[in-house]
Amino acid sequence: MSKLLVTHCICHAVSFEEIQSISESAGFKSVEELQAEDVCSTNCKMCKPYIEMMLETGRTAFEPGEYLKVGSE
Ligand code: FES
Repeated sequence: MSKLLVTHCICHAVSFEEIQSISESAGFKSVEELQAEDVCSTNCKMCKPYIEMMLETGRTAFEPGEYLKVGSE
């Protein structure tokens, strides 16, 4: 298991925990809603698949590239 986990939208300097809290408070269910409010994922979008997983699973830390493995095991 990698010790370096993906836990932030780097471009917006916001953690997935913070994004999750904002999503719960605002009732956001999609990355598009978060993007519309300029919370995250509007620049390089490297975080987008992780935030999609966060919204789906409630987790806030991911192995790098973890979203690529879903459904392949
Ligand atoms: S890391 Fe989230 S937009 Fe770049």
